[in-house]
Order: sequence, then C-alpha cells, then structure tokens
Amino acid sequence: MTRPGLFAAGLVAAIGSTAWVVTADGQDVPDGLSFLGAPVTAGQVARGQELYAANCASCHGADLGGEPDWKRRKASGRMPAPPHDTSGHTWHHADRQLFTITKLGVSAVVPGYESDMPGFEGALSDDGIAAVLAFIKSTWPERARGFQAEVTANDEGGS
Ligand code: HEC
Repeated sequence: MTRPGLFAAGLVAAIGSTAWVVTADGQDVPDGLSFLGAPVTAGQVARGQELYAANCASCHGADLGGEPDWKRRKASGRMPAPPHDTSGHTWHHADRQLFTITKLGVSAVVPGYESDMPGFEGALSDDGIAAVLAFIKSTWPERARGFQAEVTANDEGGS
C-alpha cells in the first residue's frame, strides 16, 4: 500500500457503511449459513469483521473489492489480491479450501505456487480464521451462498 492515509480513510468509510452487519442481535446473518458444517452465528460474523479489517483488508480491500487491477500479474510475477465479494472467485471454493488457503497460504492447495498471500497460522487461531471466512460468506448474495454451499457439500472429505 503506497498511500496508507488514504487507505485508512477508505477503511473507516467502508466499515461505517456496512449497515447490513447487525452485530448486536445478529438478525442479518443469512439463514442457514454455515462454515465447515457449523452454523454461523452473529457473534462469529462480528468477530470476523474485525479480524478481516485488521488482517485482510490491507490487501483484499476494506470493501472486499480486492486490489486495483487484480487480474493483471504484477512485475514480480505474482498475482494481486483478488476481491472476496462476488466479482472474485472466493465463492467458487469449498469451505475447507478457503480455510486451508487462509491458514497455510495458496501453496498448501497448489504445491510450489508462489504467492503474496500469507498463511495466517500463528497470527490467527482456527476459530479466528473460521470467523473471518464466515464474515466474508455472510456478505454474499443468496445465489453465491447457495452455489458455494453446493461446492462445499461436494468437497466433503477433500481439501
Ligand atoms: C499481504 C497481502 C494479503 C493479505 C494481508 C491477505 N491476503 Fe489473501 N491473498 C493475497 C493474494 C496476493 C492472493 C492471490 C494469490 C495468488 O493467486 O497468488 C490472495 C488470495 C486469497 C484467497 C484465495 C482466493 C481465491 O479466489 O482463490 C483467499 C481465500 C484469501 N486470500 C483469504 C485471505 C484472508 C481471509 C485474509 C485475512 C485473514 C487474507 N487473505 C489476507 C494477498 C493477501
């Protein structure tokens, strides 16, 4: 990030506008949303939102919009951080795969792959990782949630 001041301002603005997250009574956790087979709770989404802002937003965007021009490989040969909203492809991956990527990095699912995505093992507990991903999933529209639930069901036992 070359302009941290501007970025911080954007972060505050974006968090201020995410009115759909009801952190107190949780009525806005989508019906039936689960992560790795466990029902997602309002508390988990609220915690995940905070952890996302602190650990993921600097690369994936405060609004989950990814890095600018995220489809174009960088001069380093590595890819920029993709969006976690439905303009990206996070919602095409099963829960287990999202968990593994977040905990161990992309090379854990694509051996030998060089990536700027850090593994969060050590920085976040398994519960924290689940909370961040539950938060991300809670932002998706129903169609994307349904699709990703099917991918997850088909992936059972896989990685
Ligand atoms: C230092 C920048 C950086 C941070 C911080 C970061 N990521 Fe990433 N992330 C990336 C990059 C870059 C990629 C693309 C990997 C690639 O293709 O090389 C990525 C990819 C991913 C993917 C795979 C997406 C897909 O569609 O395949 C997931 C899931 C992910 N990140 C989750 C997270 C979560 C959750 C956090 C916070 C806990 C986080 N990332 C923090 C840079 C980052």
